Amino acid sequence: MNQSIEIKHSKPSTKAGQSIPHESAHLHVTGQASYIDDLPELEDTLHLAVGFSKCAKGKITQLDLHAVRQAQGVVAVYTADDVTIENNWGAIVKDDPIFAKDQVEFYGQALFVVAAKTYQQARQAVRLAQVTYEAETPILSIKEAIAQQSWVLPPVDFSQGDVAEAFEHAPHQLSGEIELGGQEHFYLEGQISYAVPHEDDQLKVYCSTQHPTEMQLLICHALGYQMHQVSVETRRMGGGFGGKESQSAQWACIAALAAQHSGRPCKLRLDRDDDMSATGKRHGFAYEWSVAFDDQGVLQGLKVQLASNCGFSADLSGPVNERAICHIGNAYYLNAVQLRNLRCKTNTVSNTAYRGFGGPQGMFVIENILDDIARYLKCDPVLLRQRNFFAEKSGFGRDRTHYGAEVRDNVAPKIVTELLESSQYFQRKQAIEAFNAHHEILKRGIALTPLMFGISFNAVHFNQAGALVYVYMDGTVAITHGGTEMGQGLYTKVRQVAAHELGLSIENVRLIATDTSRVPNTSATAASSGADLNGKAVQHACIKIRERLAKLAAEISQSDEAQVQFENNQVTTANNQSWAFSDLVNRAYMARVQLWDSGFYKTPEIHYDQVNHLGRPFFYYAYGAAVSEVAIDTLTGEMKVLRTDILHDVGRSINPAIDIGQIEGGFIQGMGWLTTEELYWQPDGAHAGRLFTHAPSTYKIPTSVDIPHVFNVKLFDQENVADTIYRSKAVGEPPFMLGLSVFSAIKQAVQAAIPDDAPLVLNAPATAEEILRAITIGRGQALPDRPQPHLR
Ligand code: MTE
Ligand code: MOS
Repeated sequence: MNQSIEIKHSKPSTKAGQSIPHESAHLHVTGQASYIDDLPELEDTLHLAVGFSKCAKGKITQLDLHAVRQAQGVVAVYTADDVTIENNWGAIVKDDPIFAKDQVEFYGQALFVVAAKTYQQARQAVRLAQVTYEAETPILSIKEAIAQQSWVLPPVDFSQGDVAEAFEHAPHQLSGEIELGGQEHFYLEGQISYAVPHEDDQLKVYCSTQHPTEMQLLICHALGYQMHQVSVETRRMGGGFGGKESQSAQWACIAALAAQHSGRPCKLRLDRDDDMSATGKRHGFAYEWSVAFDDQGVLQGLKVQLASNCGFSADLSGPVNERAICHIGNAYYLNAVQLRNLRCKTNTVSNTAYRGFGGPQGMFVIENILDDIARYLKCDPVLLRQRNFFAEKSGFGRDRTHYGAEVRDNVAPKIVTELLESSQYFQRKQAIEAFNAHHEILKRGIALTPLMFGISFNAVHFNQAGALVYVYMDGTVAITHGGTEMGQGLYTKVRQVAAHELGLSIENVRLIATDTSRVPNTSATAASSGADLNGKAVQHACIKIRERLAKLAAEISQSDEAQVQFENNQVTTANNQSWAFSDLVNRAYMARVQLWDSGFYKTPEIHYDQVNHLGRPFFYYAYGAAVSEVAIDTLTGEMKVLRTDILHDVGRSINPAIDIGQIEGGFIQGMGWLTTEELYWQPDGAHAGRLFTHAPSTYKIPTSVDIPHVFNVKLFDQENVADTIYRSKAVGEPPFMLGLSVFSAIKQAVQAAIPDDAPLVLNAPATAEEILRAITIGRGQALPDRPQPHLR
């Protein structure tokens, strides 16, 4: 509908395009930004603590909560039997019980909730529960799941082009297996919901979530409310990273349930260890692949089986795996592909969205395959990558993805050429070879990986957004929209859009909390599309208001409406009449001109057939490349990133400082996933399936000492060919995948430590142990005894 509005944007001058600070930076750094646990508590607030399963799979033979109910300060205890309508919070498939009933499916599954006068009392009471199980053998790995054909969703087969022929005629073939671990979100603020009953059976829920509307909807489903009775508000999250897209729902439902039954405000905040054990993570994957290629290393045919660890339920595993399938080619043209995607059901927590949403897991395998081909052909992996890129111009072949979309905006080759030059890749590669020739123990490696990530939700209907813009009679502006702020700078960018459209300085524009009672039916803030969608919706609302003000100004001054200028808090007509914006607004109010409006946006041109995996799911692609250099110690497996250079494409940036922050943060998070962040579940015994790595003491995320010693990040200077807000590009997730350059560089370093023709299999994460393992095997030495291989 709004596609008809012609967007006349003067080139971003003052507000859009400037590196202004995050709208809450002054609050973040002074501790004044209020998160949900900082909200003043209402009288009679009850504090909730959840009792979790201590068995990965089995029947609950006894759930005796007598002592829990009697404990000091306890007001109520609720179980599955208390869920008013449906004991389920599943976002897509209804297979996620709010509380386990009769059967448990993973270690850490919620069984009951205690509502007490204090947080401490609630937590202490939980421990008094007497629970017994009739334990069954859990499935704890992808391998076991495949052996038992244990799926959350049926296998998917995809093929495009004549794979059989490609394999028959190609001069070379390789095949292999590789594994990739999952990842904990490690948002700084854990899951939290505060549910407050209001008059006439209404409920207000303050929730740390990327998806307020889904929280509202799932609370309604579970507890029998209608949507107009429940509103969900999110001012900000202390990080989400995909972990609060669907997985905030269980805790929102529990808080709402307690508030519904007790009639009192109820707050549920998971402590760090519980949050890590009881909430889903990035999917780990196991791959089996074979590839056919010519003498130049140009891909002729590719066969991959991608098996993901979905955990015990479907959650977002369908769409996450879908994105893995779409991104299995990364920036490379594939003319014949055959994929089998297994979505394995295991007895671990249900895995979910995480920055990149399956994209990183798709790209991981192709980047590894290209490294293996380069090693086999003894050619530089960069040259091989360049040979496999999509064509730079569409219409002349090699310009279609395997899912049938035309690639019209390929800037990967340009970015790579520029980055090779600025990072001095080839000179450094020579220096590294010389270094390796003279050093026995330390080995270095350097690698470049490119990135091409599709922007838009694969589910077409999510690609819509609404906004409200209010101009108050003093000339200040408040905005609200469906997007949520998790630190990524969405509110800041949207504020810049409004300031730009109305010609105001930034201080005159304020973002107010996202609330389902302000803008309804919102999509998750995910798929990196927050600014694309909400920025346009806000722009549309501003244009409507601006046009009304321009009309009034033109009437008063008897001049051309189209030539009224809004700039520097002034409104000026063609015949040089001028008002302060606030003065004109005041006149407009007196003249009964509407000073607020709504905006709506839906992404044009996209379509996707989810059954056949064909179409044009993405409005455009975000591109980038990174060159990383690492050093490894072949005696200890220790690794350091010595230098990383990134050139990343954000189109015409709305806020370069925010974008560079996203690139740095995304890269580091991706690097952490592939190097130090290892999830480990107890493989057997009475506590089989218990997550060992449930705290920062055992789960190692990157810190300030782990960042590359030299870290150069640059924005690629070219506007988006697609008509996005000011021709910018989404930036939230894509840079995460640049972390793959570190993994490839480690592989290069390992390669330098073993004979040329020795086997080289490095699984991710490339922890010190994994690096040592790869070297030991590569050198044909015996592996020391070590505990069961970790689970992926
Ligand atoms: N940046 C910060 N600081 N915190 C976050 O939680 N989430 C990432 C990314 N950047 C995240 C972040 C993820 S998973 C997504 S999808 C996008 O931000 C969502 O925001 P956007 O659509 O506005 O980019
Ligand atoms: Mo991001 S994984 O799409 O929330």
